[in-house]
Formats: sequence, structure tokens, C-alpha cells
Amino acid sequence: MTANKSVALSSDHTALELRQAIAKHIAALGWKVVDIGPTTTESTHYPKHGAAAARLVASGDCNFGIIICGTGQGIMMAANKVAGIRCGVCSDAFSARMTRQHNDANMLSLGARVIGEGLALDIVDAFLTAKFEGGRHATRVDMIEPSES
Ligand code: RB5
Repeated sequence: MTANKSVALSSDHTALELRQAIAKHIAALGWKVVDIGPTTTESTHYPKHGAAAARLVASGDCNFGIIICGTGQGIMMAANKVAGIRCGVCSDAFSARMTRQHNDANMLSLGARVIGEGLALDIVDAFLTAKFEGGRHATRVDMIEPSES
């Protein structure tokens, strides 16, 4: 049951079509979708879109975030700079499931130039249906802290 559960969605210009397909897919599954754009394919900058979605998740406004750029890499890096965000790039459903089960990932990053729509939707399904296992994994997740200072 996904009642009251929401997903923040954003991308850069490489992923408008894929983002729209994901929005339609997860809305049909009962998720509330908070799609923060962009709404055109005009060239834009992935860091601001990754950070904007991450802030919605970090604030608790959304339960999860799904972000997309060409490779999934740059937008993931931007999202992970926001405190409380654990975002993994996934190109397969196993990794997407495991990053929820073991890492309690709250955001998923995809590469629109890496995977096709069918695989992307499988990955999204794996991510949104998997549950964090807690226990020893919670101990390890709690150990993930900023270490740049
Ligand atoms: C845009 O050309 C591309 O650099 C961006 O979408 C992303 O792949 C960066 O990580």
C-alpha cells in the first residue's frame, strides 16, 4: 500500500521523456508524484535539479526521490551533498533492491543515456517495493557521516 507516500522526481534536459514515463508509471501504482521538472529539453544544469529533489526528501515532504541525468552520476553526487540523503545510481534491479534493503537509500538515480525505459521502470519498481532490513545494516547506515571537514 502506497497511500500517502510520495516521490520527488527531477532530472536534467537529457531525461524529460524518461522522467514523464516514470511519473505516469508510479502514479498508476498509487504513489503521489511531486515532479519538479524541468518541463523542456532546453539544456540545464543537473546539480540544481538533484539538490532540489534531495531537499524535498531531506525535509520529509517526500518519502523518496528519483533523479535522472545522462549517466545518473552527476545528479547523484549533487543529491548526496544534502544532509540525510542516501542516493545510489542503479542500472539493474538487483542493485536498486539492495540499496533499499541494506543502505536504506532514500533516493534513486538513473542514467537516461545508459538504460532504456523498460529497464528503468523495473529498477524503479524494485527500489520502491523493497524494504530496509535494519539490524546490522542500520548500524552501518548510522556510520555514514560527512567527513570532509
Ligand atoms: C549532460 O550532458 C550530462 O553531462 C549530464 O546529464 C550528466 O550525465 C552528468 O553527470
